[in-house]
Amino acid sequence: MRQTAYQAEKRARLTKYVFLETFGCQMNESDSGRMLGFLSELGYVKTDTPSKADLILLNTCSIRDKAEHKVYSMLGRFKPIKDENPGLIIAVAGCVAQQEGAALLKRLAYLDLVFGPHNIHKIKEMLLAVEDGKRRVVETSFSAHIDGSEYLHTSREGSKAFVSIMRGCNNFCSYCIVPYTRGREASRKSSDILSEIRALTLAGVKEVTLIGQNVNSYGIGDGSELSFPDLLRAVAEVESIERIRFVTSHPKDISESLVSLFADEKKICSHVHLPVQSGADAILASMGRGYTRDEYIDKVGRLRALCPLISVTTDIITGFPGETDQDFEATMDLVRTLRFDNLFSFAYSPRPGTRASTFEGRVDAEVCSARLTYLQEVQREITLEKNSALIGSILPVMIEGKSKTDPERSVGRTGCNRLVSIPSSSHQEGDTIDVEITAASPNALRGLYRPRR
Ligand code: 5AD
Ligand code: SF4
Repeated sequence: MRQTAYQAEKRARLTKYVFLETFGCQMNESDSGRMLGFLSELGYVKTDTPSKADLILLNTCSIRDKAEHKVYSMLGRFKPIKDENPGLIIAVAGCVAQQEGAALLKRLAYLDLVFGPHNIHKIKEMLLAVEDGKRRVVETSFSAHIDGSEYLHTSREGSKAFVSIMRGCNNFCSYCIVPYTRGREASRKSSDILSEIRALTLAGVKEVTLIGQNVNSYGIGDGSELSFPDLLRAVAEVESIERIRFVTSHPKDISESLVSLFADEKKICSHVHLPVQSGADAILASMGRGYTRDEYIDKVGRLRALCPLISVTTDIITGFPGETDQDFEATMDLVRTLRFDNLFSFAYSPRPGTRASTFEGRVDAEVCSARLTYLQEVQREITLEKNSALIGSILPVMIEGKSKTDPERSVGRTGCNRLVSIPSSSHQEGDTIDVEITAASPNALRGLYRPRR
């Protein structure tokens, strides 16, 4: 009875509210942007207050155990809201949804909808089935190809936008759940990607980040007319686009033609994220990464030879099964030798269904986290040294808006992806200005506007 009254009231309202929480990577951020786009067609607008929402939607991540736990604890907090308001729809999307499917509905009686990353474009029909059909819905099917209509909506933040160019991964690194939750690689048509980017420029976008789990494989196997370097060249031809970034590149697939593009194409930002994962050959082999330590060092060397100012960042996992003290020392040696501009590091987390979860030689949790802490301390020093070396230089910075911690300052980013804070001025979001770097910390730079003469 109560539900019917609620639904009648809800239908009478033109505006409905969605509370959306996104966990995990940029791919999820971009997927959330697409979800909001499809939801806007049903009259939904965002709210930051869960108790005000008609739909609570969690876009989840299962890359590590911790990320997955966060989802369950957050869902628990929504149960009392649902008890108060039975018409509320609670939906789980993303990688945990894909991984758990119907088991999630079984486990949590107050959930209405569970759908995986290949089903975002079906969100409207799924919601209608929940609302009108009064049933609980699970949709975790995979599709081998991408239909143009799946990407009608983009995620945009002011003058910057993330544009998905492909999805899935065929690499099956032994620790990683992504190929299971996001399926096999499939690329979008280059013509669709380029029209999306042109449309974004009309809305004021000046910087695009092309995203995919493994962007270097763009077009391979899809009979696409463009390779990844060709696609980058085509994006660079879009006049109002000033900066192009892309993530993530796999070291085994980064080609000579891509390396030379960093030097030749001015719009491509001088930053590459190249996850190495470990500096020990035995661990790299057991991870199934497809390159050796020396091959990785060689690739970074070639990038730096052609493009001396390029910023190189990486990901590292500590405590992978079988990682000895010597293996970890080899990773530390690689970190000290290559002096990454920054790195993201993670303690190994066994993921269900992955090969590594069955490997022997589990590293003790304390050892694993001690290695992580040590790695982070060493890298913090290196990052600070690298950032400090920029003091005195004048760098182009694209303004992103006001500082969140100090209203008297604005923040922007260098091409090499460093955050820079400057005293507030009349500069608009999206303006690129010259900034003299005056101070550095491990997390950011400070500087002063230097007008061009
Ligand atoms: N445990 C720990 N870290 C992982 N990553 C991926 N899978 C795992 C796992 N099972 C890390 C890798 C990857 C980044 C996105 O997350 O370093 O590059
Ligand atoms: Fe996971 Fe490896 Fe694919 Fe990256 S390349 S998404 S680590 S399987």
